Amino acid sequence: MRFLSEIGLLVAVSALQIPLAVAAHNVVDLSDQRWTLTSPGNDTIKIPGKVPSQAHIDLYAAGIIDNPLIGLNDFDLRWIAFSNWTYSTELRGVQDSKHLQTSLVFQGLDTYAAIEFCGQHVANTNNQFRQWVFDISHVLASCKSNEPLLEVKFGSTPNISAAIAAEPGQETWPDGVDEVYEFPNRQFVRKEQSDFGWDWGPAFMPAGIWQPAYLVQLDGPASVYVKNSDFDLYRKGQLNNLPPDQTADWIFNASVDVVGSVPRGSQMRYTIADSDSHRKVSSGNFGNIENGGDVITGIATLKASDYELWWPNGLGPQRLYNMEVEVVSGGRTIASVNKRMGFRTIVLNMEPISDLQLSQGITNGSNFHFEINGHTFYAKGANFVPPDPFWPRVTPAHIKGILNDVVDGNQNMLRVWSSGAYSPDFMYDLADEMGVLLWCEFEFSVSLYPANSEFLENVRQEAVYQVRRTNHHPSMALWAGGNEMEKDELPAIRSGSPDLYEKYLNEYLELFLNTLLPAVYGNSHSISYMPCSTNNGYLELDFSLPIPFVDRLYNTTPGYLYGDSDFYDYNAAQAFDINEYVVNRFANEFGFPSEPSLETWREAIPEDQLYFNSTMAVLRNHHYPPGSLATDELENPLGGQGEMTLGVEYWYPIPDKTDSVANFSAWCHSTQIFQADFLHTKIQYYRAGSSMPQRQLGSLYWQLNDIWQAPTWSSREYDGRWKVLFYATKDVYQPVIVAPVYNVTTGVMDLFAVSDLWSDVKGEASWEWIGYDGKPVNTSLSAKSQKFTVGAVNATVLSSMNITDLTSSGSIPADNAVLVATVTASGTPPNSKATKTYTHSNFFTATPLGKAKLVDPGLTLQQERGSFTVTAEKGVSMFTWLALDPKDAGVIVVFDDNGFLLRKGESKTVGYRISSGASTGWETRVTVESIWNNTLPE
Ligand SMILES: *[C@@H]1O[C@H](CO)[C@@H](O)[C@H](O)[C@H]1NC(C)=O
Ligand SMILES: *[C@@H]1O[C@H](CO)[C@@H](O)[C@H](O)[C@H]1NC(C)=O
Ligand SMILES: *[C@@H]1O[C@H](CO)[C@@H](O)[C@H](O)[C@H]1NC(C)=O
Ligand SMILES: *[C@@H]1O[C@H](CO)[C@@H](O)[C@H](O)[C@H]1NC(C)=O
Ligand SMILES: *[C@@H]1O[C@H](CO)[C@@H](O)[C@H](O)[C@H]1NC(C)=O
Ligand SMILES: *[C@@H]1O[C@H](CO)[C@@H](O)[C@H](O)[C@H]1NC(C)=O
Repeated sequence: MRFLSEIGLLVAVSALQIPLAVAAHNVVDLSDQRWTLTSPGNDTIKIPGKVPSQAHIDLYAAGIIDNPLIGLNDFDLRWIAFSNWTYSTELRGVQDSKHLQTSLVFQGLDTYAAIEFCGQHVANTNNQFRQWVFDISHVLASCKSNEPLLEVKFGSTPNISAAIAAEPGQETWPDGVDEVYEFPNRQFVRKEQSDFGWDWGPAFMPAGIWQPAYLVQLDGPASVYVKNSDFDLYRKGQLNNLPPDQTADWIFNASVDVVGSVPRGSQMRYTIADSDSHRKVSSGNFGNIENGGDVITGIATLKASDYELWWPNGLGPQRLYNMEVEVVSGGRTIASVNKRMGFRTIVLNMEPISDLQLSQGITNGSNFHFEINGHTFYAKGANFVPPDPFWPRVTPAHIKGILNDVVDGNQNMLRVWSSGAYSPDFMYDLADEMGVLLWCEFEFSVSLYPANSEFLENVRQEAVYQVRRTNHHPSMALWAGGNEMEKDELPAIRSGSPDLYEKYLNEYLELFLNTLLPAVYGNSHSISYMPCSTNNGYLELDFSLPIPFVDRLYNTTPGYLYGDSDFYDYNAAQAFDINEYVVNRFANEFGFPSEPSLETWREAIPEDQLYFNSTMAVLRNHHYPPGSLATDELENPLGGQGEMTLGVEYWYPIPDKTDSVANFSAWCHSTQIFQADFLHTKIQYYRAGSSMPQRQLGSLYWQLNDIWQAPTWSSREYDGRWKVLFYATKDVYQPVIVAPVYNVTTGVMDLFAVSDLWSDVKGEASWEWIGYDGKPVNTSLSAKSQKFTVGAVNATVLSSMNITDLTSSGSIPADNAVLVATVTASGTPPNSKATKTYTHSNFFTATPLGKAKLVDPGLTLQQERGSFTVTAEKGVSMFTWLALDPKDAGVIVVFDDNGFLLRKGESKTVGYRISSGASTGWETRVTVESIWNNTLPE
C-alpha cells in the first residue's frame, strides 16, 4: 500500500480523482498481498516482492544488490536486465462464487509479462504504458484453490527485443537512424525509452508490476467498476489547436470507462463544487448520452459566468473545482467519478503570421506560442526528465519538491520529455495546484518506429488510455507525438538515403499523425497536438479532412520562421556569440552539461575517485563518452569531460588548488558557473527577442532535474541541490529584467528592458561602468540613467554601446570594466489589480573573467535569524556563492538568490528555505566565495 498511503494525505485535503467503484462487488488491492520475487533459472533468488515495484527495488530492499545508483552499478547490474523475473502470490480475499464476473486490472506492467492464474495462462502483455484488464471468471470457476496462485512472469526486455528485431521480415532503418545509448532495439518496445540508457542517465532496464493492480469481482448486470474516465472542458465551438471564443459557455464532456457493462437506459449527472470551500456551484443532467457498454458519455453546457478561471504560476490564481459525475441506472448510482478540474483554455497557436503581425515587423511564417484563456504569454521553464530510474519509488513528496523549486524559479511551464514515462496522476494534481503547465509528449524519441498494424494498434491503445486518464488536468498544456524525429531522423534519411525517404516518411506520418492525432482529437477538444517536439507546424489545419493537421515538414520559404527550435552548441569558445544562437520563435531545448557538486558526487563514488577525470567520474558521464561516435568523428574530440573543461578554461580563472578534493570541488563549481553564464546569456537574448522580428515567446532549457548523480545538463541535482544554473534562470525568468545583448560582429551591446507582463511597465534604468576594484572606470561614461516604457510581452533598447570602440579607444580598460545595470519599474501582474515594483540588476563584462583584473572582493558573511548578509568590503564580487559546509551534505538548502554580483561596499541579505533533510548547526558553517577564489591555491 506504499503508493496509496502516501497519496492519502493529498486525497484528504483536495478531492482528486477518486473513482468510486460504487457497485463493484469485491475489489482486492493486489498491493496488500504477500508477493514473492524469484528469478527462474537463478535459484539464489527468492525474496519478498512488492506491488507496485520493480525487481531492482525489491532486490535492493532484500540486500541482494547494492544501491543501484552508486559506483559503476549502472554497468555491474546488467545481469538483472538479462534475467527473467516472476512475481507470485497466493491471492487472499477472492470470493468463490460461480455467478461473479472476475477480472484482473493492472494499471501498468513493465513490460513483457505472461500472466498465469491458478496455473493457467491468462495473457501476455507488451506495453508498459497500457492498462490491462483480463477476465478470469472461467479460470476461477475451475480453480480448486481458495487462495489461487497469481504469477506475473516478466521476460528480459533486452533478450526479447533482440528476438523481435531478428524476426524474419522485421523492419530495419538506415544506419544511425535510431540513436543507441546502452541497450539497442528500444524502437520495438513500448517501454520507457531512457531505460535503454540516455546521454544523461543510466540503463537499468527495470521490470515489474510498476503500477497498482486489482482483482475485481462484479455481481449482476448493474455492477460495474470504473477503470478510467475522460473529462473534457472546452469553450463552445472550440477546435483543437485553434484559439476559441473566450466569451462562449463551457462544454463539459464526460465519459466513464468501466469493467462490466453499463445498463441500457442509464443516465449521467454532475455536481460541481468549489474545491477550496466545497461550496456547490452547479449540478445537472448530461444530455447526448451515448452508451457503448463499457463506456458511457454525456455532454452538458455550463454557464461561463458561474466559474472563475485557472491561470498558470505568475499569471493569476489557480482556481479548482471538484467535478463529480454519476452514472445512474434505475434510480441508483452505479458509478461515480470525482475529478478536480480548472476552467481554462490553453492553445499552442501555430497559425500563419497575420497581416497585423507583419505590420508590427514580425517575420513572416507561422506562429509558435501559447495562449492561456486567450492571452499570449511568455513560456518560461525547463525540460523534465524522469526523477529516478525507478518510478515506483517516486513519491508525491519528491515531485512536490521539484515543482516547488520550479515555482520558486519563476517558471510557468515544463516540457515533460518523451521518453520517460507518462506522468503519474499525482504529478498532474500538484501541477494543477501550483500552476505549472505541462507540455506532454507520447513516449517516442530520437528513432523511427515500426509501422506494422500490430505495433500501431498497441500504440493507439496506449495513447487513448493516457489521453483519457490525464485530459481533465488544467496543467495539461499540449500533446506532442515524440522527440526530435522531424529535426534529426527524417532529415538524416532525406539527405543520407533520399530514395528511402518517402517510405519512412509515410511510416512516420502513419504513427505520429494518423494514429496519435485521432487519439488526442478523438478524446479531447481542449488540447493542441503536434506530431513532434520540434517541428515546422502545419501547412494547413483543415477540420474537413480526416487528419486535420497537414504536416508542413520541410515545405518552408527561406527567410520565414516556423515552429520551434531545439539546438545545442558544444563549442564553448562561441558560447557568448549570439550569432551562433538560432533565431527562433520558441526554444524548446538548449543547454550545456555541468558537473554536480562535490556533495552529490560523494553520494555516488568513493573518496579516491574524487577528481575530474577519475574512472568513475568519466564513466558516469554519458555525453560523448570515450569512443562514442562524436569523439570518433572529431565533432567533439575531447568528449563530454573535455567540453566542460574548455567551458571553464576559455572564460574563467582556472582552478588549481593544492588539495585535490578542493580542486575537484572548484572545478565542478566552475563548470556550473559556465553553464549558468551561458544559459543566462542565451535566455536574455531569447527574452529580448520578444521585441525582435522573430517575436520570441518561450524558452524551456534542457534540463531541469537529474535521474542520478552524474555530469548532465541539469539545473537541479538528483537530491534537490540547486546548481548555479537554477539560480541564474530564476533571475532571468523574473517578469521585468534588464538584459545586455552583445553582437560580437558589430561590437555593439544593446541594453534591453524586457517585460512579460500583460500591460505597460514604466520605470527607470541606470548603469555604470566600474572596475573590479569598485571604482568608476570612466566618469564621462558612468552613472547614466534613463526612463523607459515597455509594452505587453515586449522589450525596448535602453542604450546601444559600441564595446569595441570603448575598449579600443581606451575609454574603458577591457580587462578592468564591468557594466552594472539596474531597472526599477512599476507594473501590474496579470489578473491583479495592485501595481507592483520590479527591480532587476544585471552585468556585462568587456572581457572574459579569466582575463580580467579580478581583485579580492573581501567578502564577509553575517548569519542572522533566517538569513545571511554578505558584504563585499574590498572589491566587486563576481558569482558570489553561498555554500554549505561539506559535512552538512544531509540538508538541502535553497537560498533566495545565489551566484550574484556584489559591488564594492554592497551588502545583500539572502533568505533561504530548507528543501529537505536536516543537519544541526549548518547555519554556523555556511561560507561565501566568488570566482576570485579560483585564483587561490587553497
Ligand atoms: C543470480 O543472482 C545472483 C545474485 O543472487 C547474481 O549475482 C548472479 O549474477 C545471477 N546469475 C545470473 C546468471 O544472472
Ligand atoms: C527467460 O524466459 C524465456 C522464455 O520463457 C526463456 O527462453 C529464457 O531462456 C529465459 N531466460 C533465462 C535467463 O532464464
Ligand atoms: C513591441 O514594442 C514596439 C515598440 O513599442 C512596437 O513597435 C511593437 O509593435 C511591439 N510588438 C508587439 C508584438 O506588440
Ligand atoms: C549582428 O550584427 C550583424 C551585422 O550587422 C548582423 O548581420 C547580425 O544579424 C547580428 N546578429 C544578431 C543575432 O542580431
Ligand atoms: C578531462 O579529460 C578530457 C579528455 O581527455 C580533457 O580534455 C580535459 O582537459 C580533462 N579535464 C580536466 C579538468 O583535467
Ligand atoms: C564599433 O567600433 C569599432 C571600432 O571603433 C568600429 O570599427 C565599428 O564600425 C563600430 N561599430 C558600429 C556598429 O558602429
